[in-house]
Amino acid sequence: MPVERTFTMLKPGALARRLAGEIISRIERKGFRIRAVKMLKIDRARAESHYAEHKGKDFFERLVAYITSGPVVAMVLEGDGAIAMLRKLCGSTKAEEAVPGTIRGDYGMHTNLNIIHASDSPESAAREIALFFKPEEILEWEDGNHEWI
Ligand code: PPS
Repeated sequence: MPVERTFTMLKPGALARRLAGEIISRIERKGFRIRAVKMLKIDRARAESHYAEHKGKDFFERLVAYITSGPVVAMVLEGDGAIAMLRKLCGSTKAEEAVPGTIRGDYGMHTNLNIIHASDSPESAAREIALFFKPEEILEWEDGNHEWI
């Protein structure tokens, strides 16, 4: 698999429920390299841009209201086939389909309050990374574990 970068965001529910550390720990243990991380409060303009493809859907306003309701943790992750791998780790977007053992399957009952976002394609990943991070905020570094994971 090619080395890819993907974007993920722990949503306000993750911080409100004090689950951020646990989720980041799962991401690290899986083997992703954390290239960038920041905690921030998203304004409406950035939320609308991030979820632009869903504008007009009946849940759009709810989605924007939720993501702007409190701080989030945004991250750039890297690894072999990182985009699909992270989506697997997160589990299905729909709460009733999210399998136990996945992040969404273990930590939520409702789709509209899910606690993590993950890019769904290389195009989305590139767009979302650029929306949240400047190039100089993404760090190239090695932790020495690569051959083991
Ligand atoms: S769709 O319609 O299949 O394109 O939507 P989907 O890819 O499943 O979800 C896109 C994001 O919208 C969120 N979502 C919702 N929010 C509130 N209410 C409802 N009903 C709802 N359905 C989907 C979903 O959590 C996705 O956000 P992210 O941040 O990617 O998890």
